[in-house]
Amino acid sequence: MTNQSEQWTSKIGFILAAAGSAIGLGAVWKLPYVAGTNGGAAFFLIFILLTLTLGVSLLLAEFILGRSTGKDAIQAYKTAAPGTPWYFVGLLGIAASFLLLSFYSVVGGWIVIYFVRSITGQLSPPDGNFELLFESITANPLEVGLAHLAFMVMAVLVVQTGIQKGIERASKWLMPALFILFIIIVIRSVTLDGAMEGVAFFLQPDFSEVTGETFLFALGQAFFALSLGVSVMVTYSSYVPKRESLTRSAGSIVGLSLFIALLSGLAIFPAVFALGFEPSEGPPLIFIVLPAVFNELAFGTFFFALFAALLLFATLTSAFSLLEILIAPFTKKDPSKRKKVAWTSGLLVYLMGIPSALSFGILSDWLIFGDIFFNQMDYLVSNILLPLGALLISLFVPWKISKSVLRDELLQGSNLGSGFFSTWLFMLRFVTPLAIIIVFLYVLGWLPGIGPTI
Ligand code: PHE
Repeated sequence: MTNQSEQWTSKIGFILAAAGSAIGLGAVWKLPYVAGTNGGAAFFLIFILLTLTLGVSLLLAEFILGRSTGKDAIQAYKTAAPGTPWYFVGLLGIAASFLLLSFYSVVGGWIVIYFVRSITGQLSPPDGNFELLFESITANPLEVGLAHLAFMVMAVLVVQTGIQKGIERASKWLMPALFILFIIIVIRSVTLDGAMEGVAFFLQPDFSEVTGETFLFALGQAFFALSLGVSVMVTYSSYVPKRESLTRSAGSIVGLSLFIALLSGLAIFPAVFALGFEPSEGPPLIFIVLPAVFNELAFGTFFFALFAALLLFATLTSAFSLLEILIAPFTKKDPSKRKKVAWTSGLLVYLMGIPSALSFGILSDWLIFGDIFFNQMDYLVSNILLPLGALLISLFVPWKISKSVLRDELLQGSNLGSGFFSTWLFMLRFVTPLAIIIVFLYVLGWLPGIGPTI
């Protein structure tokens, strides 16, 4: 997208780019460790429910705001509600994207490290212990810092030139390849000795552990995995041709995203139990478990390298969307600034990410409110800023855009009727904001009931 009037070359181009933004570390890296620390199956079930209700409604709301205005994260609000301070929601999204990318790129860097090590034969862990391997990698500030830098440079290089067509074309092959590889790991993982305990952990809910905080994490995860609440989907859908059906695109994206979440749970948890790891390892979880699973596979190193490369691609396509939203407001007026703005934003994101990158090494003793910097940043973005952004969008779209525009945009190109429109509007106007507010109140301890919170 080198300029605002450019449109996706095809419908599949938009779906792939939006799905590329959605599918990334959220489903593959974050979901397993958040589910692992929040009760497994019960968490997963709540996450699916929230995705299918609030997630779908909000995704459609962001699409509609983007396409009906044709503008970026800030201008979209200014165009739909001129002279009001609502564009603040876009600014909040930009701030959240900046912070999100700061730690997202750190994890991207870890993938770079695992990829490079797998092709250079440096993945064998000390004493066969993959936990120690992760610790020794992240304890080395130089390796982590360089990999983090390499990831950001790759992201900026693509975004600065706007080579969307190449990405569209590559996605068509690489995403399905990632799915196929995932299915291979799932098969290996569930056939390991003792895997059933892990399958049960992931699929048999135990609601006794559910607290207000479980809902908050599930809410954050649902928004994170669909790239919601930060106006990324507003920006992307501003390039969609009018005739396309937004509901069909939303359906494909949500379907793909849930499918990969299921695959990643089924790849990780059976192996966690079979190989004697803890589901509550936190952010390092997949970096400890996946190399161990591939180790159990014929041609494991080869497959692992391939997997790491594909995951890196999926992670980059999400990073592009986060970077794009940061630079779009500057480049819209003057596209010639694109290079400069992209490199400056990339540099700032990199600097902001440094404390997160060091959180698992030399800064591991630096605790903020009892947890490392990386985890607090993730908590702030995923559990506070994204739900807050989502809440504001769910108030803005149905009240500030006229009903006829909403109806036309929603039903355009689809054979869904006005029943669907009314349900969606009701979800967005009442259910979504109320649900988010109730979860916030529970976590703040202002409502009595479901279990202890923070
Ligand atoms: N959805 C992306 C993922 O799951 C992360 C993301 C969140 C990207 C918000 C853009 C905006 O990896």
